[in-house]
Amino acid sequence: MARKKLIAGNWKMNCLSAEGVALAKAVAEKVKANKYDCDFLICPPFTLLGLVKKCLRGTKIALGAQDVHFAEFGAHTGDISPLMLKDLGCSYTIIGHSERRVDHKESNALINKKAVAAHQAGLNTVICIGETGAERDAGKTIKVCQDEINGSVPADATAKNTVIAYEPIWAIGTGKTPTATDVQEVHAAIRAALAKKLGKATAQKMRILYGGSVKPNNASELLKLPDVDGALIGGASLKADDFVAIAANALK
Ligand code: PGA
Repeated sequence: MARKKLIAGNWKMNCLSAEGVALAKAVAEKVKANKYDCDFLICPPFTLLGLVKKCLRGTKIALGAQDVHFAEFGAHTGDISPLMLKDLGCSYTIIGHSERRVDHKESNALINKKAVAAHQAGLNTVICIGETGAERDAGKTIKVCQDEINGSVPADATAKNTVIAYEPIWAIGTGKTPTATDVQEVHAAIRAALAKKLGKATAQKMRILYGGSVKPNNASELLKLPDVDGALIGGASLKADDFVAIAANALK
């Protein structure tokens, strides 16, 4: 079954208004000018969601946040709820990025709870998993990914409302990537873990993105792998040319 590729940009904590608007407009123009046969998603910081939404009007580029709280409203100072994201025009949110797992001590259980709340509000989720360098060196990559799938992906996950992003932590922002063989092996293991948890049919349809130092020059090799259904792109998503070149190269 053919899974449509998803090219997703995670801007992380970057860009003030002018820069964010210029970047979103440049991506929108480039995507409009070409008929890429893939889905696009951009995830700016919370502060830019409203502005970026306006820049994406008339395009098929989806808007996403980088995190969400599990509650609808209430006493959660500094947090943003799924309904607030919907209200701003988001259709996606990233959940469980390793930078949140580390910086904010987010557990699989919390990520699972956030995903359930996001789905209930009608948001799609990009749930991130991936091993540290030490775990990789200890041969634990697949076990870590299986545990994170089991713990973070909720039982209500469907191929429509959930995307998995495999991001080896040691590959994020470092310019290092696993070999294509390693990426395919891990993605296949993730799909098997999803099949066990959610059933084979759902697992076959669910998109599994690769993330970690994806650039225009390695996109083609990584994205043509049978179980790689797109990319979650950090650094290279901050340059419109590079972000769109990843899609162009991936679809060659
Ligand atoms: P990177 O980040 O592309 O800069 O390595 C990926 C991510 O953290 O999502």
